[in-house]
Amino acid sequence: MPFRSLEETLADGTAAPRAMGEPDWAALRDRAYNLRWATVVRGVIPLTAADPDLPIASEIGAEIARYVATPHLSYGPAAGLPDFARAVATHFAHMKGASVDAARVTATNSAASALMLVARHVVMAGDEVVVQDPVDFLVGESVRRAGGSVRRWLPDADGPNAGRFTVAGLKAAVTDATRAIAVCHPHNPMGTLLSPDEVREIARFAAARRITVISDEVWSDVVLDGRPFESFAAHAGSREGLHAWVVYGLSKGYGLAGLRIGAVIAPDAAAAAAFRSAQGFDLTIEGAATISQVAATAALERAGAWREAFLLHAASQRDRAAARLSRLRGVRIARLPEATFVLFIDIRGTGFDEETIAQRLEVLAGVKVVPGSPRWFGSGAAGHMRLSLATTEGVLDEALSRIECAWEHVLAA
Ligand SMILES: Cc1ncc(COP(=O)(O)O)c(C=O)c1O
Repeated sequence: MPFRSLEETLADGTAAPRAMGEPDWAALRDRAYNLRWATVVRGVIPLTAADPDLPIASEIGAEIARYVATPHLSYGPAAGLPDFARAVATHFAHMKGASVDAARVTATNSAASALMLVARHVVMAGDEVVVQDPVDFLVGESVRRAGGSVRRWLPDADGPNAGRFTVAGLKAAVTDATRAIAVCHPHNPMGTLLSPDEVREIARFAAARRITVISDEVWSDVVLDGRPFESFAAHAGSREGLHAWVVYGLSKGYGLAGLRIGAVIAPDAAAAAAFRSAQGFDLTIEGAATISQVAATAALERAGAWREAFLLHAASQRDRAAARLSRLRGVRIARLPEATFVLFIDIRGTGFDEETIAQRLEVLAGVKVVPGSPRWFGSGAAGHMRLSLATTEGVLDEALSRIECAWEHVLAA
């Protein structure tokens, strides 16, 4: 294929946002696993796992260095460091419309782990949980691992309700066995965002039916175009009667995936304490690394400028990718993501399935994407592919040029 070599692009500089600086590509090849640079054949561009290529905020690195300069890395408190819990609570109050008591917060070893623990805590064997389809595999996996059964909410992947729950749909979906509704808010892979009104309506519905809401809000720091975000944590507790468990993490909004840092926000302080006791935090079986909490606290308190630049960059990457990909034969992009830095594109018009197109793109274009197969997103994702766009402008442009250049060969192969 007549595309430019990746080495040439990287050597020329790749138009990283000025506020973030150029990625260290050699370090990414060494460190970025989970389908990314360290795992692909040299020369292939991985637009795969949702983990930014961009360097983290300098404030975070400085805080890690400052902390380890004092050579003691002792056990932290079972709930996590008080500074971390306060930083999360303040962040939710300022950015997510939820006034959260820090006593509701438990530091966890990643959002993925938080999701598993919450499901294990809330879901009993045989309970039914309504889960969106498509949605990131971790949501359904958490229910299955807890012994629950997944009741799939499967609107048309391109219809107006794709990636969002509606009260009308939920009324039809819940049964007497429904213990919980699991929401991905904002939604991976669709990039949809429930409005504050929709959040309130769903919260009211669940409270009235005594159904627990498990809300995975790991993407809530990547809300684009200045849209408002409201957390389900705003509606939990005795006043509104909603049992809502919120899962949060800093992998997406601050690029801290390798630190494995997240949090659970329980409905109230007593529920948080019971959760920690039942799930092994009090016995040091569970818990988050103190160094990761220190880094996350610095991110939440001091990396605001980095995050602003990151959000502008994510919106601009979305626009350039959507404009170019939607011109390809057989590709449709029903609507632009309102949140996240992933783009979920409909390739049903090509006549090929998602695994075939993804494999051919890797071989013929040198670009690796995530196929919309059941193992990643559920059966509702069939005929789609997900591309992660959190790289530099130059690398994304090169990936798009390669896809454009190879597309007719991909369809002809
Ligand atoms: C919806 C959703 N939940 C959880 C996670 C996992 O986040 P973490 O890296 O904090 O485990 C991801 C990562 O892609 C995700 O998309």
